[in-house]
Amino acid sequence: MTDPFDVLRFQARYCADTGAPMYAELLARAADDYRAGGPVARLLRGRDERALALRLLGTVHRLVLEGRVPELAAHYPTVGGTADPLAAWPAFRAVLVEHEDEIRAGLADPPQTNEVGRAAALAGGLLTVAAETGLPVRLLELGASAGLNLRADHFRYNDAYGPTDSPVTLPEAWRGGTPPVDAGLRIVERLGCDLTPLDPADPAARLRLLSYVWPDQPERARRLRAALELAARVPATVVRQGAGDFVAGLEPREGVVTVVWHSVMWMYLPAEEQARVTASLEAAGAAATATAPLAHLAFEVWGTDLLYPLTLRLWPGDGRTRVLGEGAAHGVPMTWF
Ligand SMILES: C[S@@+](CC[C@H](N)C(=O)[O-])C[C@H]1O[C@@H](n2cnc3c(N)ncnc32)[C@H](O)[C@@H]1O
Repeated sequence: MTDPFDVLRFQARYCADTGAPMYAELLARAADDYRAGGPVARLLRGRDERALALRLLGTVHRLVLEGRVPELAAHYPTVGGTADPLAAWPAFRAVLVEHEDEIRAGLADPPQTNEVGRAAALAGGLLTVAAETGLPVRLLELGASAGLNLRADHFRYNDAYGPTDSPVTLPEAWRGGTPPVDAGLRIVERLGCDLTPLDPADPAARLRLLSYVWPDQPERARRLRAALELAARVPATVVRQGAGDFVAGLEPREGVVTVVWHSVMWMYLPAEEQARVTASLEAAGAAATATAPLAHLAFEVWGTDLLYPLTLRLWPGDGRTRVLGEGAAHGVPMTWF
């Protein structure tokens, strides 16, 4: 079992390193409170769930988003407050005491996110595939969550690509270079799978997704809210299925390039399922032709240095892995190679 104190301290450092200073401070104080036997200890002692710190933060954030804890909300930019790392802690601690039972129940929920910033990787990859194959895209996403990134071609990237009136803008999507924006990308099918798909039209699902966005990163919340709105206008389907079953028996289709894409989900697959996905893709790759190609785009963490490369394998051909660029955990900014 991992000591919740270590979990809180680790997550505090991670938040500090990734531009979430208020969460970093709240978690550091929470770790101290845990050691001192305060309300954090009452909530977390003896628990060993994955992402325990994020469960705690997300459950409290949900109360903020529901408008039920106004004193804490004053420090949360996602509801118009001003992030103040030092002032937020007493209000946060008070919420833990006042809503102890509800927060304890919320800790049982695994966090779920759908990070729209990762569309910067996907769109760049899709443009590359469209440029190299000259074909419309059949887009299949593994671990699609609410399927927001299945609409990636409807977002606006830098001042370079996408509808100029899109509500979803990623002004610093790409740096170092630009993917082939004139590739004539056209997506003709949008289908994803997830073990727990979320419906972007469902208010409870929206609240759930927003609650796991870090409140001192309001830009992430802004683009998430915009993508949830846009999803109502651009249909896409996410089926309840594991990735291994979803791609079992996959075949390329004549006249389109079949693109299998995933971001920040591979680490959740058991090794056996990872092997099944890879075998299905390679079998489909072996059957690919110039008029029915297959592409595999992945934006997944590599190694222990928390690097996030965007990789592409394309068939027919040798299907070797090419690295197209590298991004941050939340996608943007993507450095394009
Ligand atoms: C960290 S989220 C990332 C969601 C989305 N790909 C993104 O980048 O925003 C991981 C997602 O993978 C899903 N997932 C986990 N294991 C899975 C599996 N075996 N098959 C399909 N989806 C899975 C989870 O339900 C969750 O929605």
